[in-house]
Amino acid sequence: MTVTDRKLPVVILISGTGSNMCRLAELMQTGELPIEIRAVISDRADAKGLVTASGMGIKTESLNPKAFAQRSEFDAALAKKVSSYEPELVILAGFMRILDSQFVSRFTDRMLNIHPSLLPRYPGLHTHQRALDAGDEVHGASVHFVTPELDGGPVVIQARVPVLKDDSAESLAERVLQQEHHIYPLAVQLFAEGRLRLRSGKVWLDDRELNAPLQVMNGKTP
Ligand code: GRF
Repeated sequence: MTVTDRKLPVVILISGTGSNMCRLAELMQTGELPIEIRAVISDRADAKGLVTASGMGIKTESLNPKAFAQRSEFDAALAKKVSSYEPELVILAGFMRILDSQFVSRFTDRMLNIHPSLLPRYPGLHTHQRALDAGDEVHGASVHFVTPELDGGPVVIQARVPVLKDDSAESLAERVLQQEHHIYPLAVQLFAEGRLRLRSGKVWLDDRELNAPLQVMNGKTP
C-alpha cells in the first residue's frame, strides 16, 4: 500500500435520513473519497439512515439515550462505542443530540459537523424558517469543527444559496441540502488528505491559517 492508498478511518453519527452520510458513503465506494467508514451509529434505532448504510454494506449500531439515567452516561457510552472503532475523524451528519464537553474533548480537533445555515447566523434549530423570517437574500450551510459551544466551532467551508421569492422552509431546505452534499465531502476529503486541520482553535489549510471559511456559491468554489 502506498501513502496515497491510505484511507482515513471515520465513524459517522446520524439521527435521521442520513442523506449526507449516504453521499459520503457513495463517494467512498466509488473511490472518490479516501475514507473507510468503520461504522454509522445512531441515537435512534429507527433512523432511516441505518437501513441505507447497512444496505451499502456498512456496519451500523444504535444506542438508546432512554436506556441511561443521565445524559452524561449516554455520552460516555457513546464515546466508548465510537472509540472502539478507532476513528481518526468523527463525522456528525444530522446527529440531533448535543454532545457534552467530555465527549467533545475526547475527539477534539477531529470531529466535524454540518449545519444548515451560514454560521454564525442561526445556530440551533429551524434555520430555514428563521432565514425566511429575517428576509435574508442568501442562506446556506456550513461545515465546522466541533467545540463544546453548540454550532459554534470554527467554520471550514460554507455554501451560499440564494433565497427565492416564493421559497418555503421546505423548498429552501431542499436546495441547501443539495449543497450540503457538495461541501461535506469536500471538507472530509481535505481532512483525509491531511490538508485541513484545527490547531489551537484555528482552521489551517495547506499549512496556512484560514482567516475566513472557504466559500461555494451555486455549487462552485470561487
Ligand atoms: C442536514 O440539514 C444537516 O445540515 C443537519 O441535519 C440535516 C441532516 O440531513 N445537521 P441528513 O440526515 O443528512 O439527510
